Amino acid sequence: MSTLSTGRKIRVGLIGSGSIARHRHATELSKNEDVEIVAFADRVPERAEECAAKFGGVSISDWKNLIARDDIDAVVVATANAYHAPITIAALKAGKLVLCEKPMATSDVEAREMIETAVKNGKFLMIGHNQRLAQSHIKAKELFDDGIIGKLLTFRTSFSHAGPEGWSIEGKDGWFFNRAEAFVGSMGDLGVHKADLLLWLIGEDIVEVSSFVEQIAKPFGDVDDNAVCLLRAKSGAIGTLTASWSHNPGEDNGTVLYGSKGILHIGTDKNYPVVVNLSTGENQYYETGRIQTNDGGGQHDSGVSRAFINAIKTNTPPEIDGEQGRRALAVILAALESAKTKRHILVS
Ligand SMILES: NC(=O)c1ccc[n+]([C@@H]2O[C@H](COP(=O)([O-])OP(=O)(O)OC[C@H]3O[C@@H](n4cnc5c(N)ncnc54)[C@H](O)[C@@H]3O)[C@@H](O)[C@H]2O)c1
Repeated sequence: MSTLSTGRKIRVGLIGSGSIARHRHATELSKNEDVEIVAFADRVPERAEECAAKFGGVSISDWKNLIARDDIDAVVVATANAYHAPITIAALKAGKLVLCEKPMATSDVEAREMIETAVKNGKFLMIGHNQRLAQSHIKAKELFDDGIIGKLLTFRTSFSHAGPEGWSIEGKDGWFFNRAEAFVGSMGDLGVHKADLLLWLIGEDIVEVSSFVEQIAKPFGDVDDNAVCLLRAKSGAIGTLTASWSHNPGEDNGTVLYGSKGILHIGTDKNYPVVVNLSTGENQYYETGRIQTNDGGGQHDSGVSRAFINAIKTNTPPEIDGEQGRRALAVILAALESAKTKRHILVS
């Protein structure tokens, strides 16, 4: 795969100039000395203008004009979910390196086309699954891989907050709650994060899913706001994944792995991001960086932008690539299928 061979700055354009573009991507990219922000695009021109005024570069209303520019090397796709695939595919075809937000696509067909287009055009495709870049998750994976809790038997993971109406630049009437643009609600916003985290953390496939994916809390919009899923991993370990937009007040962003020798808690203890309870009676407490959150402490460096830019700089394929995004999406698609058919679904 070819990227950039010159020593110059990497010229980036952002498509979608809403909350995540502002609070994460542009903020992180603008602090990166290897980056020049060249342009922002948004279907609402004022949003792109506001971003350009704050972070630099020009504003463009039609993203097609952004990807047509030859002074842009890489793009960040941070639009409503339904447009991730078409914009990413067009950008890759235009010769851009792409960091696409999650969920990467609305179907497996789209996800595969994104991956194939990246390969065909020799360009990197990275998906914004930042959870695995959190210090607490990195520490937990190190401990798990060292065998501290023995063989994984069961697990639970949860991502819950009050919903995106207080976060999205479009608020309660915005795309997050509109199936045509979001394709999925809490499962696509939060569940896909934990699907990716789990796949990476336990290092094996999720092979079977059964779920309830429901709209029970928000009387507006037409997407799910709560989901409870049963998952089976390839090794036989079983567990739950929950996603909720009605956890209020506060936020639940925790994962627990139960093994043959003990329990590994991540993000569930008030004082320590990572705690290990061994069946011998020994307890271990690890102070690491906190998990990225929109609650209380707000956004801090997610590591995503840096990982993308480093991949380009070093010409090393990003670890969180299209295939990783597709595997996480496959769990979500299986959950939706299970909820619809009321059957256990094998993950393809
Ligand atoms: N990785 C994470 O932790 C994380 C967190 C929040 C959001 N996201 C993802 O980022 C994406 C954007 O979310 P957000 O929170 O910024 O939403 P938002 O509503 O705040 O902003 C989205 C922006 O995209 C623009 N937009 C939508 N469709 C467009 C199109 N076709 N062309 C041009 N502009 C378009 C909207 O006008 C809006 O300004 C979503 O896919 C979301 O799932 C990821």
